[in-house]
This record gives sequence, structure tokens and C-alpha cells, in this order.
Amino acid sequence: MAAEGPLLTLDDLSIVFSSPDEADIVAVRQVDLTLRRGKTLALVGESGCGKSVTARAILRILDKSAAIPSGQIIFSPDDAEPVDIATLNPDSIAMRTIRGNRISMIFQEPMSSLSPVHTIGDQIDEMIILHERVTPKQARERTIALLDQVGIPGPRERADAYPFQLSGGLRQRAMIAMALSCNPDLLIADEPTTALDVTTQAQILDLLRQLQDDYGMAMLFITHDLGVVAEIADDVAVMYLGDVVEQGDVFDVFATPQHPYTRALMSSIPKMQRKAERERLQPIQGTVPSPKDRPQGCSFSSRCPVAFEPCAKVRPDPTRTGKQHRTRCHLIERELKPGEVIV
Ligand SMILES: Nc1ncnc2c1ncn2[C@@H]1O[C@H](COP(=O)(O)OP(=O)(O)O)[C@@H](O)[C@H]1O
Ligand SMILES: [Mg+2]
Repeated sequence: MAAEGPLLTLDDLSIVFSSPDEADIVAVRQVDLTLRRGKTLALVGESGCGKSVTARAILRILDKSAAIPSGQIIFSPDDAEPVDIATLNPDSIAMRTIRGNRISMIFQEPMSSLSPVHTIGDQIDEMIILHERVTPKQARERTIALLDQVGIPGPRERADAYPFQLSGGLRQRAMIAMALSCNPDLLIADEPTTALDVTTQAQILDLLRQLQDDYGMAMLFITHDLGVVAEIADDVAVMYLGDVVEQGDVFDVFATPQHPYTRALMSSIPKMQRKAERERLQPIQGTVPSPKDRPQGCSFSSRCPVAFEPCAKVRPDPTRTGKQHRTRCHLIERELKPGEVIV
């Protein structure tokens, strides 16, 4: 039994998509991540960086064209032996048990996990009955309690609503209730607030924080918004084009960001006190290239404002830049400051 050490460890994990007529696409490259028990790890990066693919690998719900050519996904719940998820057959009973009982996932679009033709009450009842020996009546009572816990007003009546009858915020809450119905060890939230307005977004973040306390679960929180990370995470990993380029304790990373990509993401966070006229936001120039066009060296080299001679040729290794803080950047390896030139 493993009640100590991390709940989930991704070790040297790579994910490749293959198709008959094209070269393989390496979507995720040698990723190392650690999820501490009861803590939140935020995975942050622009669209196309490999965040969702990483999350789907943990649940083994990747497309058929995907493979995991190397790496481990070690899952160590409190009350069971550790297992390497990467070695399990996605359709095996072991994997289905993990998906149904131990790790649940919520998505940006609630309709992707809610059925449009059943009431939310019936859907959550069904999940509960699948996992516990309860009567339909007991299941419904639990469903109502869950809907109440996620802040749905009038839960007894709302249980009879169809998803389309709820607002976006309430739908998201219903999906969270469904994800919690199995009392998971780990909740994966893939951009759960991206489709919501700012006020609802803040409410859902509050709710997730509260639920995490109540349930003692760990959370993998995926977002493209570094601003949200400060609100919710204990640890943060910044992804760029399939690489984790920087990771560490959230305070460390925010106080002393090391990677030029992290710095660029930080400078694009809107600040309340920013004087709109004088201080404009600095979005990062360009877009994330496709993994097919990944630069040979550092994946960020084609957009990096401070790239120098080795960056386009040699991939940097992760370097320790603090207690739990690691960064993949030649500037760090060579102990250079941005702009400093090698002679
Ligand atoms: N089904 C797929 N087939 C081929 N390539 C894919 C597939 N899904 C994702 N990818 C590749 O993986 C990359 C990362 O995708 P994704 O994890 O969805 O990014 P993110 O969630 O960070 O926006 C994409 O840019 C794409 O190249
Ligand atoms: Mg995504």
C-alpha cells in the first residue's frame, strides 16, 4: 500500500500519433510530472501544447492512432498497490476501474460528458448505482446531495432538468457533480472554465477549491491562462509544443520564472493595476507550430526572443533552478541572463 509519496508520477512519458500516409507526430515528449496527494498541479500552455493529450493518456482515452512509446504513468492510491497505467490495456477491467472509481475528468464543454437525452438526475443516479450497492431511491438522495454540494439551487427539482435547460454555469456544476459521484482520488479538469464568463469562472474555481478540501482529492488543472493558475494551484508545469519547459512550486515559478516562454505567458496576464493607456499587454508573437514543424533544438527556439546559437540545434535538458523547480533552457544551463552574449 502506498500512502506516502506522490499520487501520480509521469516519468519520461512520450505520446505519438501515427497515420498510414504521414510521418509520426510526437505530441508529447519525455514529460516528467508529479502530482502530490491532495494538491493541485496546473498544466499551462497555449493551445496545441499537448495538455489534453497528456490528460487523456492518464485515463487511457487517447484516439486509436495514439501510442505511448516510452515512459511510465505510476498511480499510487492510498489503499491499493501502485500501478503503471501506461502498461494497462485501455479496455481492461483494471483501467475501467481506475476510470470509474479513482480518476474522473471534467471538460471545457459539459455536453461532451452529459447526455442530451437524459435528465441530469438520471445520469448521476446511474453513475452512483454503477459504483455502489444502493437502491435507486438512495442513489437519487445522493444525487440531490451532490447537486446541492456543487451549488445548484433547488437540487431536488433541478435533478429532473435536461442539460439544455440549464445555463452554462449550472451545466458545468452538474458535470462536476457527476465527476465527484465516484469520490475520486484525482480529478482532472481540462479547461473547465474556458467557455464561461468571468464571474461564473471565478465561482467555479471557488467551488473546485472547496470541493478539493472537502474530498481531499488531488487535481490536475489544465488551462491556457496563467492568471487562473495563481488562484488554484500548488504546483505548476508549463508546457510548450509537447515539452514541459518549466515546473515547480507555484510561488517559486511566479516569483522567479526562468523560462522565456513562462515569462512571455506572465507578461500577457492582464493586471488590474495596469494603466491601459501606458502599459499595453504583451502577447507572445506568433503561434505554436505543429509538432510536425518542431524546431530541432529547443521547441521554443523559433519564437524565443532571447534564443542564441545552440537553441535551434540542441535540445536543452531540464536543469534544477530551485528546490522543486526545473527548467529546460540553454540560458539556465549556461547560467546566462537573457540578452547576455557568449564570447
Ligand atoms: N487525434 C489526433 N491525431 C493526431 N494528432 C493529434 C491528435 N490529437 C492531438 N494531436 C496533436 O497533439 C497536439 C497537442 O494537442 P492537445 O493536447 O489537444 O493540445 P492542448 O490541449 O494543449 O491545446 C496537437 O497540436 C496535435 O498536433
Ligand atoms: Mg486541450
